[in-house]
Amino acid sequence: MPRNHHPHPSEVTPESVYLNRRAFIKRASVAGIGGALIAGGVVAKQRNAPRVEGTFDDELTPWETVTGYNNFYEFGTGKGDPKKNAQDFKTDPWAIEVTGEVSEKRTFSLEELIDGLTIEERIYRLRCVEGWSMVVPWNGFMLKDLIERLGPTEDANFVEFTTLMDRRQMPGQNSPILPWPYVEALRMDEAMHPLTIMVTGVYGKTLPPQNGAPIRLMVPWKYGFKSGKSIVKIRFTKRQPRTTWNEAIPREYGFYANVNPEVDHPRWSQATERRLGEFFRRDTLMFNGYEEVASLYEGMDLTRYY
Ligand code: MTE
Repeated sequence: MPRNHHPHPSEVTPESVYLNRRAFIKRASVAGIGGALIAGGVVAKQRNAPRVEGTFDDELTPWETVTGYNNFYEFGTGKGDPKKNAQDFKTDPWAIEVTGEVSEKRTFSLEELIDGLTIEERIYRLRCVEGWSMVVPWNGFMLKDLIERLGPTEDANFVEFTTLMDRRQMPGQNSPILPWPYVEALRMDEAMHPLTIMVTGVYGKTLPPQNGAPIRLMVPWKYGFKSGKSIVKIRFTKRQPRTTWNEAIPREYGFYANVNPEVDHPRWSQATERRLGEFFRRDTLMFNGYEEVASLYEGMDLTRYY
C-alpha cells in the first residue's frame, strides 16, 4: 500500500463545521427510534439507539472525508480515485453466494440475505495500516446474526469474504497491483464477536459506492484492509483462507492485522496515527482501543501472528 496520508487541504473540513458526537446522537435518535433505515435499497428494522463503541470523546470525521478519502484499489490507488471512479457502480440488483461449510449452499439477493436483521448505528474507528484514522458512524448489523441465520457446519473455522470481480466496472482490476478479486477472512470467533458488523450505510444514508456499497465488512480492532468492500461471496472454511494483502506482501500484511502499536510494519512504526482532520499525531491504542477483544488472542504471540 503506498503510504500517502496527507489529505489535500480541501479534504480537511474546518473544525467549526464538524458534526460533533452529541449533535449526531441527537439527530440519529430522533430519526432512528421507531423508524427504519434504508440499507442498500432495503428497509431493515431498527430497534436500537445509536451505539458508541469505545470512542466517547472522539469527534466524528466529516462526511466529506469519510466519502472522499478512500482505499478501494478496484477504482484506483489514489485516495480521491474511488469517489471519482465509482459513481456509476451498479449495486442493484446484488447477489451474494453463500458456500463452503454451511448447511445450505445458495445464492441470495441482498434483500433476502439481510431481511429483518437489525440495522443499528455504531460509531467506530477505522485505523488504516498506512497510519491514518477516522471516526465513522456506520450503519450495519452484527455479522453474528447473519452467520447464525446461515448455519455453518461444525467444520467452519473461518469465514471468507470476496469482493465483486468485474473488470469493466472496476478498472483497477485491469492492473496487477493486487491478486484479484480482493479476498479477506476472519477466524470464526472474530466473526462472531458482537463488535464485528456488516455495513450497509454511513451517516444514516445508503453506503456510497466508494465506501463499499452495497455491503462491506467492518472489524474495528483490525487495520482497515481486513474490511472488504462490495462483498459478493461468503465462504465458510475449515482451513485458514488465503487473503489478498497477505498473499501480495506476506512480510508486511498478516492474516490477523490487529491494530497493535507495539508491532511495527517493516517499513514504518505503528505506534502513532494521524486522525484525518487533526494536525498532531496521537498514540495508537492496542486493538484500536477495543480491549474487550483481547481474550480472543490469549496465549498467541502477536509479533508472530500479526
Ligand atoms: N476492499 C476492497 N474490495 N478493495 C480495497 O482496496 N481497501 C481496504 C478496505 N477494503 C479495500 C477494501 C482498506 S486498505 C481500507 S483502509 C478500507 O477499506 C477503507 O475503507 P473506507 O474507504 O470506507 O474508509
